[in-house]
Amino acid sequence: MSLTVTPTEATLGAIVTGVNLANLDNATWANIERAFHVHAVLIFPGQYLSEAAQIGFGGRFGAIEHLAADREIVPISNQHADGTLLKDNEPGMQLMRGNEGWHTDSSYMPLAAKASVLSAHVVPSAGGQTEWADMRAAYDALDEVTKARIATLSAYHSLYYSQGRIGHKGVVGSSYGFHTGEPPLRPLVKVHPETGRKSLFIGRHAYGILGLEPEESEKLLDGLVTFACQAPRTYSHAWQPGDVVVWDNRCVLHRARPFDYREARVMKHTRVAGDPASELAAHSDRIAS
Ligand SMILES: [Fe+2]
Repeated sequence: MSLTVTPTEATLGAIVTGVNLANLDNATWANIERAFHVHAVLIFPGQYLSEAAQIGFGGRFGAIEHLAADREIVPISNQHADGTLLKDNEPGMQLMRGNEGWHTDSSYMPLAAKASVLSAHVVPSAGGQTEWADMRAAYDALDEVTKARIATLSAYHSLYYSQGRIGHKGVVGSSYGFHTGEPPLRPLVKVHPETGRKSLFIGRHAYGILGLEPEESEKLLDGLVTFACQAPRTYSHAWQPGDVVVWDNRCVLHRARPFDYREARVMKHTRVAGDPASELAAHSDRIAS
């Protein structure tokens, strides 16, 4: 088997074949890591990883972020363990609907995520794709006035805020991300710790830009997402069982697409923690301000 990396027609993303992620040697890993830095989203069809193998692959990127106590892999699904489907008003369904907005994982936590690994197990007959948008290319495409305007701006990030905008009132402690800490404050322009490229660090969790009125902040952030998440900067993947994708949360936004929720969709997710040197939020002074 030889590793083949085929870029998509978008500014990000590549399809990677000729590799067994459950059995990676160091030379192949080095090539995958290089491709990850170039393409930011890597799609590996037909891997059928076990949970242990998915955790092992995630661990190549860094420390695993625990989304539930002692769990290094969690289901993302509209199906309960007993096989019944979630109802519209269940919090889990509201979180899934939230995932349909452009976001980056764990930006609402003090330490934002480095990477996310997602695998497909049960897919609906239509819809349910995942889409990614390239925030490096989006930054590059901004006009110079906007670049200058946002150069020194920072926004808070909160899951309470993003879920609130779709009518879901998050309850403290009910789910990962509904925490009692200060909302992290993060610059709108992020410099990638590995490549040095600048990218927009925005998405649905961002709000309350320091120094702007709430309406002005919301308008600016919504406008940036709308501008950023357009062709040729977006790529959509229609999942097949066995597929595995890893993406770089430091420079990519993603969203799930809707599907008929009377059908099951079962994905498994492993999240890789950011490096504190580059993904730990500046100390928030929200109360003081
Ligand atoms: Fe996500």
